Amino acid sequence: METQTYNYKVVRQFAIMTVVWGIVGMLVGVIIAAQLFLPALNLADIGPWFHFGRLRPLHTNAVIFAFGGCGLFATSYYVVQRTCNVRLFGGKWLPAFTFWGWQLVIVLAVFTLPLGYTQGKEYAELEWPIDILIALVWVAYAIVFFGTIATRKIKHIYVANWFYGAFILAVALLHIVNSLAIPAGAMKSYSLYSGAIDAMVQWWYGHNAVGFFLTAAFLGMMYYFVPKQAGRPVYSYRLSVVHFWALIFTYMWAGPHHLHYTALPDWTQSLGMVLSLILFAPSWGGMINGIMTLSGAWHKLRTDPILKFLVVSLSFYGMSTFEGPMMSIKTVNALSHYTDWTVGHVHSGALGWVGFVTIGAIYYLIPRLFGQKEMYSTKLIEAHFWIATIGVVLYIASMWISGVMQGLMWGALNDDGTLTYSFVESVKRSMPFYMIRFTGGLLYLSGMVIMAYNVYRTVIGGKPVDAEIPAVSQAQHH
Ligand code: HEM
Ligand code: HEM
Repeated sequence: METQTYNYKVVRQFAIMTVVWGIVGMLVGVIIAAQLFLPALNLADIGPWFHFGRLRPLHTNAVIFAFGGCGLFATSYYVVQRTCNVRLFGGKWLPAFTFWGWQLVIVLAVFTLPLGYTQGKEYAELEWPIDILIALVWVAYAIVFFGTIATRKIKHIYVANWFYGAFILAVALLHIVNSLAIPAGAMKSYSLYSGAIDAMVQWWYGHNAVGFFLTAAFLGMMYYFVPKQAGRPVYSYRLSVVHFWALIFTYMWAGPHHLHYTALPDWTQSLGMVLSLILFAPSWGGMINGIMTLSGAWHKLRTDPILKFLVVSLSFYGMSTFEGPMMSIKTVNALSHYTDWTVGHVHSGALGWVGFVTIGAIYYLIPRLFGQKEMYSTKLIEAHFWIATIGVVLYIASMWISGVMQGLMWGALNDDGTLTYSFVESVKRSMPFYMIRFTGGLLYLSGMVIMAYNVYRTVIGGKPVDAEIPAVSQAQHH
């Protein structure tokens, strides 16, 4: 019988681009971090293109959709084939279309955002022609992913695919509903919604972008790569299914916690707060399930830096999903909203959770995709781990301190009811913390550069290899 191989080509392409876009997106992050204490870096003399306000959305789009997105495409394509024991659906062209289409979206973002084309909706800035391209790529992605599941040779659908599948469906829904707009020119449009409804739809989108793009999908990644790297089965399969349903149900309702004390009806704010508090439980269900998967394999942490990345990512996931519900309590939000506390929360999730789990998964994949036994240098992975960890801690600790300080200064009143501090005083006091955040970001970025070198050496030392699909009877170990 002719042997069949998995489609690793598209996995290789996305895996390499994860590292490339990671460096680009984080470099822009480091630049905007510097602009906050060195305003000259806005380069205002030569035009508006490099101003903080234009580079900030470029940073968020590049790290979430280019770095995170490529990591999710790469890992979901790898995991779905191997756990279904079948080659990726869609022949040669459909997976290739998702790769090139997604790269085109990113390149268009790199040009249009600095040029000032934006819908003005956070994480949904790209203008309508690009939105249509995103929708097309996403539909192709859904066909490839669910087509692979439909043609699977293994009866059971492994839990990682449930999370990836929910992410693909939810993002399609979120993107299409939130981006509905009336075009008013080639690169200009007006949202179909107005006022408080527009805000509600936007943060239904925004929060579920966190819930499905930055969380559910990465839990899919976690459920494959943590057991693999630890060499242990998932701690509780039942828990994984229960927390899956609880998580996707609850996330959908929590969006209004981004709009506390706004024109949104009060009851929606309270509902958003209560469901955010409930969200703590399914989030920790996933975190505990991942960490307990290491039972009996804890000793491996001493020598295996890839496992360190994966496990520490889970601790940051646990931390940010404890912090999030706290910040959604209205009285706490009265202190934290508009301050750097939010930015600290975002990056403990983004750098600690999303970044670390992606980095761990890519280190796992690269040698397997390029016919090598392991990465070129384990020492360099170890160095990357420590540099990145120090980077995250500097970033989030500085933002917590400056955030709480800002909240307290803005709320401080004199006996006669006037404000104790002017706004600019709080800005001045924030400067040292912006410098510390910049240092943390620079460290995190340096870790990515070390990773790029390690990946480069591994790739040139090997050659692209597509694994054979085992006969079904041997397919118990994916
Ligand atoms: C070297 C690493 C990074 C640095 C130095 C950095 C820096 C920054 C800075 C300076 C801001 C603007 C904060 C403000 O407006 O006051 C920001 C915002 C943001 N970054 Fe990063 N970032 C990095 C990595 C990442 C990664 C990997 C992700 C996601 C996976 C991410 C997601 C975000 C998001 C979502 C925001 C918007 C936050 C909000 O609106 O509250 N960042 N980042
Ligand atoms: C149980 C889980 C979570 C809850 C209940 C939660 C709750 C919150 C709350 C209350 C805010 C502040 C809203 C505001 O004052 O404007 C916030 C902001 C944010 N969170 Fe979370 N969070 C959770 C987990 C996460 C995770 C794991 C990530 C990232 C991987 C994340 C990313 C973000 C981002 C990007 C923002 C900033 C949005 C913006 O203003 O641009 N969150 N979250």
